[in-house]
Parts: sequence; structure tokens; C-alpha cells
Amino acid sequence: MGRLDGKVCLITGAARGQGAAEARLFASEGAEVWLTDVLDAQGAAVADEIGGHYRHLDVRDESAWTDLVQEISGTSGRLDVLVNNAGIFDTGRHFEIDAVAFQRVMDVNCLGVFLGMKAVSPVMREQGSGSIINISSLAGLTGGVGAFAYTTSKWAVRGMTKAAAAENGRRNVRVNSIHPGLIDTDMLHQLPGSQDEARLTRRIPLGRAAQAEEVASLALFLASDESSYSTGAEFVIDGGLNAL
Ligand SMILES: NC(=O)c1ccc[n+]([C@@H]2O[C@H](COP(=O)([O-])OP(=O)(O)OC[C@H]3O[C@@H](n4cnc5c(N)ncnc54)[C@H](O)[C@@H]3O)[C@@H](O)[C@H]2O)c1
Repeated sequence: MGRLDGKVCLITGAARGQGAAEARLFASEGAEVWLTDVLDAQGAAVADEIGGHYRHLDVRDESAWTDLVQEISGTSGRLDVLVNNAGIFDTGRHFEIDAVAFQRVMDVNCLGVFLGMKAVSPVMREQGSGSIINISSLAGLTGGVGAFAYTTSKWAVRGMTKAAAAENGRRNVRVNSIHPGLIDTDMLHQLPGSQDEARLTRRIPLGRAAQAEEVASLALFLASDESSYSTGAEFVIDGGLNAL
């Protein structure tokens, strides 16, 4: 028996990295998986591999969200899990970046998460169950130097998670955030100095970056009924970085 048997799951940013790892794991646990991204060829290839559905979805596009959720509930009859995973990273301290760069990060990482929750909540509230998993970051728990817009956006994800959890609780729709540290994906390789892996991981108590599959395991727990009493909570997966 799969841990997600009978569940219909929607994952954003699922063409690669953590989103693709979640799609693979969820499908292997019995879920019907809808993968979305803006990288269509890669996303469709992952969907083919796991027998899922791929749709183009730019998370900033509200009407695209509405159409997709309508299609999923029309086709599959329900929607149990949303993983708001799509995100972008950018560098720059607050006195270096301009408003355009700030807004670009906020649009994907913050507005995109809001639009996703807004689109799926009516369906989940109506069916009386659902799990929304918002991918924040360790940057959503700390300050840090040199990624001001990203940090701001990930704190917003954490705040939206708590507010939506409070607003959805009575309808048994759970909303939680995941806070990854350093995860070995394309995004990590965008970090300044990422070529020097030893330097990057020196401070991590477990001494290494995580694989995307390790975050997927945590997302699986939150997607499944095993996490039935967790909502409005922060799940940190950072090899101990936050303990320093
Ligand atoms: N890699 C890390 O170290 C790390 C650490 C903490 C948090 N995170 C977060 O984890 C999530 C997944 O990132 P990842 O590590 O797999 O990196 P990634 O860059 O491999 O994946 C991000 C995915 O989001 C998609 N995306 C970007 N803009 C989009 C848009 N407008 N609409 C739809 N999709 C869009 C990309 O095409 C890509 O497939 C992100 O939210 C990221 O901020 C990553």
C-alpha cells in the first residue's frame, strides 16, 4: 500500500530539482501527480517517466492557476495536495538591488505561493481535507547577508503559511512550510562561491549539502495523512545549520 494512495497532488517547479524529486516519490507512493513548471520539455519528460500529467504553469499567472485547478478537479474529481515549490534565487544586499530585481523575486516566490493557495483552497475546503506545503528556506528563518529579496520572500512564505493555516484549519486543510538549508540542485549552483563545495558546507553540522530526495521525504510526510495533526508549522531540513 502506498502512503499517498488515492491522493491527487499538484507540484509547482516540478521539472527539476526538489519538485521533480517530490513528483517521483509521490508517484511511487501511489499518488496521481500533476507536475507544472515553465521548463516544458524537462517537466513533460519527468511526467512521462512517472506516468503523471504535465502542464505549463507560470506561478505568477492567476488565471492559469484558476484554469488548471478547474481542469484537475474536473478530471480527477479532487485535489488533495499542493506543493508550492517553484522559486528563484537572486543575490544582492538591500542597498544594492533595485525595485525591479526585488519585485521579480517577490512575484515568483511570494505572489506565486499566495496565488497557489488561493486557487486550491476552495476545492480543498469544500472536500473537507487537503495539505498545502509551501517551500520556504532556512532564509525564511534567519537574516543573512547578500540575498535580501530572496530572504524577504521566504519570510513572507512562512507568514502566509501561518495565516492560511489559521484560516483553513476548521475545514481540515493543513498548511505547513518546509525550510531547506543547502540542497544540491541547480539553484545551489547559482550561489556565489558554490564551486568550492568544501567551503560551502564547512559550517553545516552534518558536513554536507542534502540531496533533493531528502527534502522529498519530508514533503511526503506532510502530504500524507501521517502528518494529520500538523498545521501552521515550520519543518526545518538543513543538516543542523539553524542549530549554530
Ligand atoms: N537548493 C537550495 O539550496 C534551496 C534551499 C532552500 C530553499 N530552496 C527552495 O526550494 C525550491 C525548489 O528549488 P530547487 O532547489 O529545486 O531549485 P531549481 O532551480 O532546480 O528549481 C526551481 C524550479 O522552479 C521553476 N520556476 C522558476 N520560476 C518559475 C515560475 N515563474 N513559474 C513556475 N515555475 C518556476 C524552475 O523552472 C525550476 O524548475 C525553491 O522554492 C527554492 O527557493 C532551495
